[in-house]
Amino acid sequence: MGAGMGDHLRAADVLASGIHDAKNRLFAIGAKENTDSCDWAEIQKSLLEVAFHLDRTLTAYRLLRYENMAAVVPVFIPHLVEDVLVRCQTQTRVRISTEVGFHGEWPLSRKLVEETLINALQNAGRFARSLIRLSIYKHDDTLVFKVNDDGPGFDDKTSSGHSVGLYIAERIAQLHNYLSHDGTTRRGKLVLANGGELGGALFLLELP
Ligand SMILES: Nc1ncnc2c1ncn2[C@@H]1O[C@H](COP(=O)(O)OP(=O)(O)O)[C@@H](O)[C@H]1O
Ligand SMILES: [Mg+2]
Repeated sequence: MGAGMGDHLRAADVLASGIHDAKNRLFAIGAKENTDSCDWAEIQKSLLEVAFHLDRTLTAYRLLRYENMAAVVPVFIPHLVEDVLVRCQTQTRVRISTEVGFHGEWPLSRKLVEETLINALQNAGRFARSLIRLSIYKHDDTLVFKVNDDGPGFDDKTSSGHSVGLYIAERIAQLHNYLSHDGTTRRGKLVLANGGELGGALFLLELP
């Protein structure tokens, strides 16, 4: 299926927004005053954040360029959760509580799903007041990854439209799709809402 012109423009916007953010962060680092309070460890941390952001922007590019790059294999979910948490605990200032309600294997693209969850948890870490919860559970024939925080929630302008992280999440959801016996296609879904147990942003990645 060929992409329309609107899709191409949107794709270009997403990549531009990724480059734009990285550029601004680098300028901000360059403009830092050389005082005692500005130490090398802090600069290094900021530079790493920019590097991760550019890496994510390249992932978005690859997802656009090579649509079917998602290698779907059965993955033991508790292990995936452990790997995600190891990479997040040191990066978010708020503790992440987890509820793993599914203890088996599920077919998914491991690296892409991990990246998506890490981004969702990092986002929550930026906005949460004091709580972040990651829950994984099976609902009907779908595996749901839920990230909920107690921050202000998504504002009206947020959609998975143009920012790199949420765009990747939406693409990942769409790339997990299977043809059912009855000829219909079951597709993954990204849902962004507010509320949930913690009252703030609610990020739901649902994979068939
Ligand atoms: N948990 C959250 N609470 C409130 N706003 C959020 C949350 N997660 C994401 N957002 C909003 O969505 C935007 C896009 O997120 P994302 O695509 O991950 O890009 P980035 O993290 O680089 O800003 C964020 O900049 C923020 O405005
Ligand atoms: Mg993000």
